[in-house]
Amino acid sequence: MTILVTGATGTVGRSLVRQLLQAGQQVRALTRSPERAALPPEVETVKGDFNDPAGLARALRGIERMHLVAIDGYGPLTTGAEIIELAVQAGVRRLTHLGHNDPSAPDDDPMEADHRALHRVIEGSGLEWTHVFPGEFMANTLEWAPSIKAGSEVRAPFGGWTNAMVHEADIAAVLKVALLEEGHAGHTYWPTGPEPVRRADAVRLIGEAIGRPVRFVELTPEQAREEWRDVYPPEVIEWFLQLGDYLDDADVPISPDVEKVTGAPGHTFAQWAADHAADFR
Ligand SMILES: NC(=O)c1ccc[n+]([C@@H]2O[C@H](COP(=O)([O-])OP(=O)(O)OC[C@H]3O[C@@H](n4cnc5c(N)ncnc54)[C@H](OP(=O)(O)O)[C@@H]3O)[C@@H](O)[C@H]2O)c1
Repeated sequence: MTILVTGATGTVGRSLVRQLLQAGQQVRALTRSPERAALPPEVETVKGDFNDPAGLARALRGIERMHLVAIDGYGPLTTGAEIIELAVQAGVRRLTHLGHNDPSAPDDDPMEADHRALHRVIEGSGLEWTHVFPGEFMANTLEWAPSIKAGSEVRAPFGGWTNAMVHEADIAAVLKVALLEEGHAGHTYWPTGPEPVRRADAVRLIGEAIGRPVRFVELTPEQAREEWRDVYPPEVIEWFLQLGDYLDDADVPISPDVEKVTGAPGHTFAQWAADHAADFR
């Protein structure tokens, strides 16, 4: 059996490909740029783009199980219905879906509406589907790598902001189990990390992993607006700054799903930092 992995060059997809190979599976990977994919040689790499669903026929040929990544703002969020229909026609029976869902937001919330539409298409498809909606990725802190490499510091607001970030390998492990084992059809999993981590502590833990201290330089919201003006769109900056409402929150939700599905506890941020030390040196 060959399993099709979309998003195979992404943060979670790369880990999923590796874990499926380790489990003895044959993997076909979808990418827009096979020449840059740098996947293991035993992976069958196929060129394709969600924005051209008809061009996915080759990738779907002979596939019974596949993993779909929902790309924010484009890709399957606009062509999702077509992709799911093609998958069903091609004979796919099982589908894992990595996406996003904020259950506290209404269906017409601009950040949610496209995602919810895709969720409904998947749930009405007749496929054995499993949704995976993780918490914030530990890997998002890789955006600090340039300033850590250049000056051993991270300049950001809200050192006390706290979240149970999740290791990409744990998200991939949940997906792998849902693809390979029975009993996960119709389930939705919400992987988080095993413990709350303050932003400033994450910076310190990266320093410990790379063997030199890294300073957290706390910016005021005004300084952050100024620093990020040329880096992020204004709405992204304002979204990030409203996170100031969640400082030092010891009650951030921690989901049991990683351990429940995989049988192993999720990785801590210290373990993630050790795994990624080379990215920050
Ligand atoms: N980051 C977070 O904190 C967070 C939290 C919760 C949920 N999520 C969800 O996680 C998902 C993103 O996962 P990730 O971070 O592992 O992905 P990622 O690292 O951003 O990688 C994106 C992947 O999608 C592929 N891709 C992009 N556009 C494509 C297109 N038009 N056609 C075909 N493939 C395309 C890319 O492949 P090529 O470039 O090789 O074509 C790449 O492999 C999203 O659904 C997001 O909502 C993220």
